Amino acid sequence: MRLQGNKILITGATSGIGRVMAIRFLSLDNQVIAVGRNATQLARLQLEHPQLVTYRCDLAVLTEREKLAAFVDQHHPDLNVLVNNAGVQYNYELTEADVLRIAEEIEINLTAPLQLAALLLPQLRRQPAAAIVNVSSGLGLVPKRSAPVYCATKAGLHLFSKALGYQLAATQVRVMEVIPPLVDTPMTAGRGTGKISPERDR
Ligand SMILES: NC(=O)c1ccc[n+]([C@@H]2O[C@H](COP(=O)([O-])OP(=O)(O)OC[C@H]3O[C@@H](n4cnc5c(N)ncnc54)[C@H](OP(=O)(O)O)[C@@H]3O)[C@@H](O)[C@H]2O)c1
Repeated sequence: MRLQGNKILITGATSGIGRVMAIRFLSLDNQVIAVGRNATQLARLQLEHPQLVTYRCDLAVLTEREKLAAFVDQHHPDLNVLVNNAGVQYNYELTEADVLRIAEEIEINLTAPLQLAALLLPQLRRQPAAAIVNVSSGLGLVPKRSAPVYCATKAGLHLFSKALGYQLAATQVRVMEVIPPLVDTPMTAGRGTGKISPERDR
């Protein structure tokens, strides 16, 4: 798929990998809708990059996800790329976990990307070329002791991407999975060594 001339929605664009992706895609002559939850970070991003469209959405909330899809349908019917990047990683012993925290992690990391893909697919199907890009994790393939729910959500997103790719194989919508290496972002603060900066290409 070409890297210029797309209209791309990126979730989790207020920080880390998503923020760099939004700015990089903008510089490659794409139109970008940057979605985030943190209003202050979103306003700063908009100020620094006025060409961006910004949209505030808490992806943990079903009705907010539906409103986001309706906003896109109404104002950006030419959207052709959805990047499901937003995510959280909570580390805990399962026996000590609050059930609401588990549910929130699943909503953000798994339910939201699946639902956004489902809601936006009719629109993506109308474009000459389109893509759904899901940012999963190596921890969806190799487990981490302290993050069982995160691992489960990323494993789910991994297989969802494969299965949806098969389902859409005969269409013009490509399904891609991105498995980033260990990247130095707020998510990995205080964790791991040998991290690369989100700005680095490879
Ligand atoms: N960093 C790594 O080494 C690494 C490795 C493998 C995979 N990944 C994956 O890469 C993706 C990006 O991670 P990152 O490292 O860039 O993390 P990050 O810097 O912590 O950024 C996470 C982004 O997700 C957004 N987000 C979280 N909860 C949200 C919610 N309820 N509603 C809307 N947005 C929400 C955040 O928005 P707000 O700040 O506005 O809340 C933020 O923009 C994640 O899916 C992560 O699992 C990262």
